[in-house]
Amino acid sequence: MRISITDRCNLRCRYCMPENISLMPMENILRYEEILEVCEQAVRLGIRKYKITGGEPLVRLGCIDLIRRLKALEGVEQVTLTTNGLLLSDYLEPLREYGIDGINISLDTLDPVKYKAITGFDKLEPVMAALKRAVDLGIKIKINAVLQKGINEEDWEDLLELAREMPVDVRFIELMPIGMGRGMDTVSNLLLLDRIQEIYPDLIRDPVIHGNGPAVYYRIPGFSGSLGLISALHGKFCSSCNRIRLTSTGDLKPCLCYQESIPLRQVLREGKKEEIRDLLIRAVKRKPLMHHFEDEHAVTEQKKMAQIGG
Ligand code: 5AD
Ligand code: SF4
Repeated sequence: MRISITDRCNLRCRYCMPENISLMPMENILRYEEILEVCEQAVRLGIRKYKITGGEPLVRLGCIDLIRRLKALEGVEQVTLTTNGLLLSDYLEPLREYGIDGINISLDTLDPVKYKAITGFDKLEPVMAALKRAVDLGIKIKINAVLQKGINEEDWEDLLELAREMPVDVRFIELMPIGMGRGMDTVSNLLLLDRIQEIYPDLIRDPVIHGNGPAVYYRIPGFSGSLGLISALHGKFCSSCNRIRLTSTGDLKPCLCYQESIPLRQVLREGKKEEIRDLLIRAVKRKPLMHHFEDEHAVTEQKKMAQIGG
Protein backbone atom coordinates (compact mmCIF):
# COMPACT_ATOMS: atom_id res chain seq x y z
CA MET A 1 0.00 0.00 0.00
CA ARG A 2 1.28 3.40 -0.96
CA ILE A 3 0.41 6.00 1.62
CA SER A 4 0.49 9.66 0.72
CA ILE A 5 0.83 11.61 3.95
CA THR A 6 0.62 15.09 2.46
CA ASP A 7 -0.26 16.92 -0.74
CA ARG A 8 2.32 19.61 0.10
CA CYS A 9 5.73 19.76 -1.53
CA ASN A 10 8.83 21.93 -1.39
CA LEU A 11 9.38 21.56 -5.16
CA ARG A 12 7.14 22.32 -8.13
CA CYS A 13 8.08 19.72 -10.74
CA ARG A 14 6.53 20.91 -13.96
CA TYR A 15 4.75 17.61 -14.65
CA CYS A 16 3.46 17.23 -11.13
CA MET A 17 2.52 20.43 -9.33
CA PRO A 18 1.30 23.77 -10.62
CA GLU A 19 2.67 26.93 -8.97
CA ASN A 20 -0.74 27.87 -7.64
CA ILE A 21 -1.98 24.47 -6.51
CA SER A 22 -4.84 24.64 -4.03
CA LEU A 23 -3.98 22.62 -0.99
CA MET A 24 -6.28 20.43 1.06
CA PRO A 25 -7.45 21.89 4.37
CA MET A 26 -5.59 20.23 7.24
CA GLU A 27 -8.76 18.82 8.83
CA ASN A 28 -9.24 16.68 5.72
CA ILE A 29 -5.75 15.22 5.96
CA LEU A 30 -5.51 11.97 7.90
CA ARG A 31 -3.76 12.23 11.24
CA TYR A 32 -0.89 9.83 11.86
CA GLU A 33 -3.02 7.85 14.33
CA GLU A 34 -5.61 7.42 11.61
CA ILE A 35 -3.05 6.26 9.06
CA LEU A 36 -1.73 3.74 11.57
CA GLU A 37 -5.24 2.51 12.22
CA VAL A 38 -5.72 1.87 8.48
CA CYS A 39 -2.40 0.01 8.44
CA GLU A 40 -3.38 -2.08 11.44
CA GLN A 41 -6.50 -3.20 9.63
CA ALA A 42 -4.61 -3.65 6.36
CA VAL A 43 -2.00 -5.88 8.03
CA ARG A 44 -4.83 -8.12 9.22
CA LEU A 45 -5.80 -8.56 5.57
CA GLY A 46 -2.27 -9.46 4.57
CA ILE A 47 -0.95 -6.13 3.32
CA ARG A 48 2.59 -6.19 4.64
CA LYS A 49 4.56 -3.71 2.55
CA TYR A 50 4.14 0.03 2.86
CA LYS A 51 5.53 2.97 0.96
CA ILE A 52 5.35 6.47 2.43
CA THR A 53 4.97 9.14 -0.18
CA GLY A 54 3.50 12.61 -0.77
CA GLY A 55 3.61 15.34 -2.18
CA GLU A 56 6.90 15.38 -0.35
CA PRO A 57 6.49 13.28 2.80
CA LEU A 58 9.40 14.87 4.69
CA VAL A 59 7.73 18.31 4.70
CA ARG A 60 5.15 16.93 7.11
CA LEU A 61 6.36 17.15 10.68
CA GLY A 62 6.63 13.78 12.37
CA CYS A 63 6.99 11.77 9.15
CA ILE A 64 9.90 9.73 10.42
CA ASP A 65 8.11 9.00 13.65
CA LEU A 66 5.28 7.55 11.60
CA ILE A 67 7.84 5.37 9.86
CA ARG A 68 9.19 4.23 13.23
CA ARG A 69 5.71 3.31 14.44
CA LEU A 70 4.80 1.60 11.20
CA LYS A 71 7.99 -0.46 11.30
CA ALA A 72 7.11 -1.50 14.83
CA LEU A 73 3.60 -2.64 13.89
CA GLU A 74 3.28 -6.40 14.13
CA GLY A 75 3.00 -8.03 10.73
CA VAL A 76 4.57 -5.16 8.81
CA GLU A 77 7.42 -6.54 6.72
CA GLN A 78 8.66 -3.56 4.83
CA VAL A 79 8.46 0.22 5.01
CA THR A 80 10.03 2.37 2.33
CA LEU A 81 9.99 6.08 1.55
CA THR A 82 9.76 8.06 -1.67
CA THR A 83 11.24 11.54 -1.39
CA ASN A 84 12.70 14.33 -3.48
CA GLY A 85 15.68 14.24 -1.11
CA LEU A 86 15.77 17.93 -0.25
CA LEU A 87 15.33 17.42 3.48
CA LEU A 88 16.60 13.87 3.59
CA SER A 89 20.12 14.43 5.01
CA ASP A 90 18.79 15.45 8.41
CA TYR A 91 16.74 12.29 8.80
CA LEU A 92 19.04 9.59 7.45
CA GLU A 93 20.45 8.43 10.76
CA PRO A 94 17.13 7.95 12.55
CA LEU A 95 15.67 6.36 9.43
CA ARG A 96 18.44 3.82 9.43
CA GLU A 97 18.03 3.27 13.13
CA TYR A 98 14.30 2.60 12.69
CA GLY A 99 15.12 0.06 10.01
CA ILE A 100 13.86 1.76 6.86
CA ASP A 101 13.92 -0.86 4.11
CA GLY A 102 14.75 1.46 1.26
CA ILE A 103 14.48 5.03 0.01
CA ASN A 104 13.51 6.14 -3.48
CA ILE A 105 14.92 9.51 -4.44
CA SER A 106 13.25 11.41 -7.27
CA LEU A 107 15.94 12.90 -9.47
CA ASP A 108 15.46 13.73 -13.15
CA THR A 109 18.81 15.33 -13.98
CA LEU A 110 22.31 15.93 -12.61
CA ASP A 111 22.53 19.33 -14.28
CA PRO A 112 21.77 22.14 -11.79
CA VAL A 113 20.33 24.41 -14.49
CA LYS A 114 17.95 21.74 -15.75
CA TYR A 115 17.13 20.76 -12.19
CA LYS A 116 15.89 24.27 -11.59
CA ALA A 117 13.97 24.30 -14.88
CA ILE A 118 12.20 21.04 -13.99
CA THR A 119 11.58 21.51 -10.26
CA GLY A 120 11.48 25.32 -9.98
CA PHE A 121 14.26 25.39 -7.38
CA ASP A 122 18.04 25.54 -7.39
CA LYS A 123 18.36 22.63 -4.97
CA LEU A 124 20.32 19.88 -6.65
CA GLU A 125 23.16 20.10 -4.13
CA PRO A 126 21.34 18.98 -0.97
CA VAL A 127 19.77 16.11 -2.92
CA MET A 128 23.17 14.88 -4.13
CA ALA A 129 24.60 15.22 -0.61
CA ALA A 130 21.74 13.17 0.84
CA LEU A 131 22.13 10.53 -1.85
CA LYS A 132 25.83 10.06 -1.14
CA ARG A 133 25.35 10.03 2.60
CA ALA A 134 22.52 7.50 2.38
CA VAL A 135 24.70 5.20 0.31
CA ASP A 136 27.55 5.59 2.82
CA LEU A 137 25.17 4.64 5.59
CA GLY A 138 24.29 1.47 3.72
CA ILE A 139 20.66 2.37 3.05
CA LYS A 140 19.16 0.76 -0.05
CA ILE A 141 18.61 3.55 -2.56
CA LYS A 142 16.74 3.74 -5.83
CA ILE A 143 16.73 6.77 -8.09
CA ASN A 144 13.45 7.56 -9.87
CA ALA A 145 13.90 9.61 -13.02
CA VAL A 146 11.22 10.82 -15.40
CA LEU A 147 12.53 11.80 -18.83
CA GLN A 148 10.63 14.50 -20.69
CA LYS A 149 11.06 15.06 -24.40
CA GLY A 150 13.02 18.19 -25.20
CA ILE A 151 13.81 18.86 -21.54
CA ASN A 152 16.01 16.13 -20.08
CA GLU A 153 15.72 13.30 -22.56
CA GLU A 154 19.49 13.08 -22.90
CA ASP A 155 20.13 13.03 -19.17
CA TRP A 156 19.75 9.28 -18.80
CA GLU A 157 23.42 8.85 -19.57
CA ASP A 158 24.62 10.92 -16.61
CA LEU A 159 21.99 9.48 -14.32
CA LEU A 160 22.91 5.94 -15.24
CA GLU A 161 26.55 6.72 -14.39
CA LEU A 162 25.45 6.94 -10.75
CA ALA A 163 24.89 3.18 -10.86
CA ARG A 164 28.44 2.63 -12.02
CA GLU A 165 30.03 4.05 -8.90
CA MET A 166 27.35 3.48 -6.31
CA PRO A 167 25.19 0.48 -5.44
CA VAL A 168 22.02 2.33 -6.42
CA ASP A 169 19.33 1.27 -8.88
CA VAL A 170 18.64 3.97 -11.44
CA ARG A 171 15.09 3.67 -12.75
CA PHE A 172 13.48 5.48 -15.62
CA ILE A 173 9.73 6.00 -15.30
CA GLU A 174 7.61 6.82 -18.32
CA LEU A 175 5.68 10.03 -17.80
CA MET A 176 2.02 9.21 -17.28
CA PRO A 177 -0.64 11.50 -18.73
CA ILE A 178 -2.16 12.38 -15.40
CA GLY A 179 -2.37 15.76 -13.73
CA MET A 180 0.13 18.18 -15.19
CA GLY A 181 1.62 15.30 -17.17
CA ARG A 182 -1.39 15.35 -19.48
CA GLY A 183 -0.34 16.38 -22.94
CA MET A 184 3.36 16.23 -22.11
CA ASP A 185 5.56 14.01 -24.20
CA THR A 186 7.28 11.09 -22.55
CA VAL A 187 10.36 9.27 -23.72
CA SER A 188 9.38 5.70 -24.53
CA ASN A 189 11.33 3.18 -22.49
CA LEU A 190 11.42 0.90 -25.55
CA LEU A 191 13.41 3.52 -27.44
CA LEU A 192 15.44 4.36 -24.37
CA LEU A 193 16.46 0.72 -23.97
CA ASP A 194 17.64 0.69 -27.60
CA ARG A 195 19.76 3.75 -26.99
CA ILE A 196 21.20 2.38 -23.76
CA GLN A 197 22.03 -0.87 -25.53
CA GLU A 198 23.93 0.98 -28.23
CA ILE A 199 26.30 2.26 -25.57
CA TYR A 200 26.19 -0.79 -23.33
CA PRO A 201 25.82 -3.78 -25.65
CA ASP A 202 26.69 -6.12 -22.75
CA LEU A 203 23.58 -5.13 -20.84
CA ILE A 204 21.74 -8.17 -19.53
CA ARG A 205 18.28 -8.62 -18.10
CA ASP A 206 18.55 -9.09 -14.35
CA PRO A 207 16.27 -11.86 -13.14
CA VAL A 208 16.77 -10.92 -9.48
CA ILE A 209 13.67 -9.25 -8.07
CA HIS A 210 14.69 -5.88 -6.63
CA GLY A 211 11.43 -4.68 -5.21
CA ASN A 212 7.70 -5.14 -5.22
CA GLY A 213 7.03 -2.96 -8.19
CA PRO A 214 6.72 -3.22 -11.92
CA ALA A 215 10.28 -2.26 -12.79
CA VAL A 216 12.23 -4.49 -15.15
CA TYR A 217 15.92 -4.58 -14.23
CA TYR A 218 19.11 -4.88 -16.24
CA ARG A 219 22.72 -5.26 -15.23
CA ILE A 220 25.64 -3.60 -16.91
CA PRO A 221 29.00 -5.35 -16.41
CA GLY A 222 31.22 -3.27 -14.12
CA PHE A 223 28.32 -1.34 -12.60
CA SER A 224 27.59 -1.53 -8.86
CA GLY A 225 23.88 -0.82 -9.25
CA SER A 226 21.25 -1.79 -11.79
CA LEU A 227 19.24 -0.07 -14.46
CA GLY A 228 15.46 -0.23 -14.00
CA LEU A 229 12.75 0.56 -16.49
CA ILE A 230 9.25 1.35 -15.31
CA SER A 231 7.25 1.38 -18.49
CA ALA A 232 4.05 2.82 -17.11
CA LEU A 233 2.74 3.44 -20.61
CA HIS A 234 4.28 1.00 -23.00
CA GLY A 235 4.55 -2.02 -20.77
CA LYS A 236 1.17 -2.84 -19.31
CA PHE A 237 2.08 -4.45 -16.04
CA CYS A 238 -1.50 -4.23 -14.79
CA SER A 239 -2.00 -7.97 -14.44
CA SER A 240 0.69 -8.12 -11.77
CA CYS A 241 -0.07 -4.79 -10.09
CA ASN A 242 -0.86 -5.50 -6.48
CA ARG A 243 -0.86 -2.00 -5.03
CA ILE A 244 -3.53 0.19 -3.63
CA ARG A 245 -3.06 3.81 -2.73
CA LEU A 246 -4.24 5.75 0.28
CA THR A 247 -4.36 9.47 -0.43
CA SER A 248 -3.57 12.04 2.24
CA THR A 249 -7.30 12.77 2.57
CA GLY A 250 -8.08 9.13 3.23
CA ASP A 251 -9.34 7.94 -0.13
CA LEU A 252 -8.38 4.51 -1.40
CA LYS A 253 -7.44 4.40 -5.05
CA PRO A 254 -7.41 1.14 -6.97
CA CYS A 255 -5.62 2.56 -10.04
CA LEU A 256 -3.79 5.76 -11.02
CA CYS A 257 -5.58 6.02 -14.34
CA TYR A 258 -9.10 6.37 -13.05
CA GLN A 259 -10.99 8.78 -10.90
CA GLU A 260 -12.58 6.05 -8.83
CA SER A 261 -11.75 6.25 -5.17
CA ILE A 262 -13.23 4.78 -2.04
CA PRO A 263 -13.57 7.26 0.81
CA LEU A 264 -12.26 5.88 4.07
CA ARG A 265 -11.99 8.96 6.25
CA GLN A 266 -15.50 8.98 7.61
CA VAL A 267 -15.66 5.35 8.72
CA LEU A 268 -12.18 5.78 10.13
CA ARG A 269 -13.27 8.78 12.19
CA GLU A 270 -16.35 6.91 13.31
CA GLY A 271 -14.09 4.14 14.58
CA LYS A 272 -15.71 1.40 12.49
CA LYS A 273 -12.79 -1.00 12.20
CA GLU A 274 -14.61 -3.78 10.44
CA GLU A 275 -15.88 -1.36 7.82
CA ILE A 276 -12.32 -0.16 7.24
CA ARG A 277 -11.40 -3.72 6.36
CA ASP A 278 -14.45 -4.05 4.10
CA LEU A 279 -13.46 -0.90 2.21
CA LEU A 280 -9.88 -2.10 1.84
CA ILE A 281 -11.17 -5.33 0.36
CA ARG A 282 -13.46 -3.40 -1.94
CA ALA A 283 -10.56 -1.27 -3.18
CA VAL A 284 -8.55 -4.37 -4.02
CA LYS A 285 -11.51 -5.92 -5.81
CA ARG A 286 -12.10 -2.73 -7.76
CA LYS A 287 -8.66 -2.84 -9.32
CA PRO A 288 -9.35 -2.63 -13.03
CA LEU A 289 -8.22 -5.14 -15.61
CA MET A 290 -5.86 -2.55 -17.04
CA HIS A 291 -5.12 1.15 -17.41
CA HIS A 292 -5.66 3.02 -20.66
CA PHE A 293 -3.04 5.71 -20.44
CA GLU A 294 -2.56 5.45 -24.19
CA ASP A 295 -6.03 6.95 -24.72
CA GLU A 296 -6.27 10.42 -23.22
CA HIS A 297 -10.06 10.27 -23.04
CA ALA A 298 -9.99 7.07 -21.04
CA VAL A 299 -7.90 8.70 -18.30
CA THR A 300 -10.58 9.93 -15.89
CA GLU A 301 -8.31 10.90 -13.00
CA GLN A 302 -8.39 14.70 -12.68
CA LYS A 303 -6.20 15.10 -9.61
CA LYS A 304 -2.60 16.19 -9.67
CA MET A 305 0.03 13.55 -8.92
CA ALA A 306 0.97 15.20 -5.62
CA GLN A 307 -2.66 14.92 -4.51
CA ILE A 308 -2.76 11.21 -5.22
CA GLY A 309 0.73 10.16 -4.17
CA GLY A 310 3.43 9.43 -6.70
N1 5AD B 1 4.21 10.29 -14.54
C1 5AD B 1 5.21 9.52 -14.04
N2 5AD B 1 5.83 9.78 -12.87
C2 5AD B 1 5.43 10.87 -12.19
N3 5AD B 1 5.84 11.36 -11.01
C3 5AD B 1 5.11 12.46 -10.73
N4 5AD B 1 4.23 12.70 -11.71
C4 5AD B 1 4.39 11.71 -12.63
C5 5AD B 1 3.78 11.38 -13.88
N5 5AD B 1 2.78 12.11 -14.39
C6 5AD B 1 6.93 10.73 -10.26
C7 5AD B 1 7.95 11.70 -9.74
C8 5AD B 1 8.54 10.96 -8.57
C9 5AD B 1 7.50 9.92 -8.22
C10 5AD B 1 7.03 10.04 -6.84
O1 5AD B 1 6.42 10.10 -9.12
O2 5AD B 1 8.95 11.99 -10.67
O3 5AD B 1 9.73 10.31 -8.89
FE1 SF4 C 1 7.14 17.42 -5.39
FE2 SF4 C 1 7.63 14.91 -6.24
FE3 SF4 C 1 5.75 16.36 -7.39
FE4 SF4 C 1 8.29 17.01 -7.77
S1 SF4 C 1 7.31 15.09 -8.43
S2 SF4 C 1 6.59 18.46 -7.26
S3 SF4 C 1 9.15 16.51 -5.80
S4 SF4 C 1 5.72 15.68 -5.30
